[in-house]
Amino acid sequence: MSVFLSFVAIISLALASLSPQASAAGVAENGSSTAGRPTIGNYQRQFLQAHNEARAAAGLPPLTWNMTLQLDSKRYANELRIRCSTRPLYAWGTDGIYGRNLYKGTDKRRTPAEAVAAWVSEGHWYDLKNNRCTAPEDQSCDEYKQVVWRATTQVGCGRHFCRASFNTTVAVCEYYPPGNRNGQRPY
Ligand SMILES: *[C@@H]1O[C@H](CO)[C@@H](O)[C@H](O)[C@H]1NC(C)=O
Ligand SMILES: *[C@@H]1O[C@H](CO)[C@@H](O)[C@H](O)[C@H]1NC(C)=O
Ligand SMILES: *[C@@H]1O[C@H](CO)[C@@H](O)[C@H](O)[C@H]1NC(C)=O
Repeated sequence: MSVFLSFVAIISLALASLSPQASAAGVAENGSSTAGRPTIGNYQRQFLQAHNEARAAAGLPPLTWNMTLQLDSKRYANELRIRCSTRPLYAWGTDGIYGRNLYKGTDKRRTPAEAVAAWVSEGHWYDLKNNRCTAPEDQSCDEYKQVVWRATTQVGCGRHFCRASFNTTVAVCEYYPPGNRNGQRPY
């Protein structure tokens, strides 16, 4: 009897793997997962995961990925890439509406995880208890605080390699609701 049942199980597994629905439900031709949730690419997942690891370490709820923020960040990164700068030439339409973290990494092409790690590393200058930042003059704690800003729920990011210096990476993440309000503590 048990021999018969396992035989049936093997047949139905084989049939499942042959059925067109079963093969279509896994991974799309472009490599994106098609299992339910909106598809985001590998580098977006890296940005999101690095944020959420830092937030989890501070006991904060995770951010979700937002395509509107991603598109705006990508456009912003595209602007930065032209002059390979972390300052755009013009005021940006979403200044003040979204929070924004900027990154520039030289020497070699940088991953999204490296960009977020640079922001998170500002945390060692930040004293949460006294809400005090001891960063050197040309640095700040603001990017770190935005990553772990409790009231922020959504993020979207973009990354480009500089036009004239392909080994330099610029990255932008935008946040909603924006953090760093009124000198408050992030959480
Ligand atoms: C990948 O393919 C899926 C399904 O066809 C589509 O929804 C998604 O937008 C595509 N992603 C990219 C990055 O082209
Ligand atoms: C993404 O963010 C935009 C801008 O804040 C907002 O209008 C939109 O509703 C958000 N999308 C989702 C799916 O939450
Ligand atoms: C980019 O960086 C790599 C690793 O540091 C180096 O080997 C390569 O020569 C660089 N390329 C350019 C164009 O600077």
